[in-house]
Amino acid sequence: MKKVLTYGTYDLFHVGHLNLLKRAKELGDYLVVAVSSDAFNAIKGKKCAIPDYERMAIVEAIKYVDEVIPENSWDQKVKDIQEHDIDIFVMGDDWKGKFDDLSEYCEVVYLPRTPDISTTAIKKQLKLK
Ligand code: CTP
Repeated sequence: MKKVLTYGTYDLFHVGHLNLLKRAKELGDYLVVAVSSDAFNAIKGKKCAIPDYERMAIVEAIKYVDEVIPENSWDQKVKDIQEHDIDIFVMGDDWKGKFDDLSEYCEVVYLPRTPDISTTAIKKQLKLK
């Protein structure tokens, strides 16, 4: 069985997120998604509209997703890959090149982002209304 792992915040879940998860799942048989915790976002200076337990519940309900784990730090990736026996690490290509070091542990794939949509853009649009 081929296991795939990806990371993200998934705030204000949108179709770009859905497409990424669908394509990530198509690379293997079992998809693990690490969703960033509110505490980790605070470290990154990022504030979500939706709390972490709700973001995790939404991602967990997506049919392409087999398992959700929390992302609590920058340096948990090697441990996650080893503990979950991951074959492919996937990220959107906004992260291209940033995780190439992980190819020591598994295949690293960057998928093209869905154009013209992001949580940041949705937040901006909502402020205009
Ligand atoms: N993603 C994507 N296409 C988009 C937006 C996001 O493929 N249009 C992917 C990202 O590359 C990442 C995952 O979805 O692998 C989770 O992205 P996240 O950062 O949570 O969403 P963004 O909409 O990019 O959020 P922000 O605007 O806050 O950066």
